[in-house]
Amino acid sequence: MAKHRITIAIDGHSSAGKSTMAKALAKELNYVYVDTGAMYRGVTLYAMKERLVMNGEVDEEGLIRSLERLFLTFRFNPNTECSEMYLSGVNIEKEIRTMEVAKNVSLVSKIPAVRTKLVAKQRRMAEGSGVVMDGRDIGTVVLPNADLKFFMTADPEVRAWRRLRELQENGKDVTYNEVLENVLERDRLDSERAVAPLKQAKDAIVIDNSNLTTEEQYEFMLNITKKRMEEV
Ligand code: DC
Repeated sequence: MAKHRITIAIDGHSSAGKSTMAKALAKELNYVYVDTGAMYRGVTLYAMKERLVMNGEVDEEGLIRSLERLFLTFRFNPNTECSEMYLSGVNIEKEIRTMEVAKNVSLVSKIPAVRTKLVAKQRRMAEGSGVVMDGRDIGTVVLPNADLKFFMTADPEVRAWRRLRELQENGKDVTYNEVLENVLERDRLDSERAVAPLKQAKDAIVIDNSNLTTEEQYEFMLNITKKRMEEV
């Protein structure tokens, strides 16, 4: 049976393992991977550098005015075999993964003008097929006609332990409680915001991976993907 190149949307809660799965699927299928969280993190870092986010508050008008000077791009790194985020030509891949950015990103990503700009860019990146895109609103807003949609979640405590391990592996000095608090707060803010809140698309396949290994989950998702590639 013919296998078609399809468009895959992966949404879900913070630290549910979306990017690990999205990257693995994209690599296996030789698809483009788009990490939309990196884009929201990139705008947040930009706002922090421009001193437009301070003490938990965003200068919304100032940020909207300076959006036209914002220049975010992905560039493929052949060593890591991953795309990395650049701000005005400077690699910011490491800087966007810090707790400081995680603490401010929900404030910035709820601003409608920010979303409009990034969603347009994300749709352009998904033109053609053979794409895996992960985020919060991919199956609902960015690519509502995606061929396959997954919604990933896990218990907050499990997600916090995983994120803590990741941050510590990168030499970050954080505590479990700090990470858990951030995970819960981002869940709340992402789900309650007025524009494009985090919610399951009606046609999404839900995966709770609290008790699954990465391998089990990957096998499950790859099988579903291959089946879908034959159907479309
Ligand atoms: O996937 P992540 O944790 O790197 O995403 C960082 C933040 O960006 C997340 O807390 C909410 C926001 N985000 C969003 O609002 N919409 C998306 N499509 C992706 C991320």
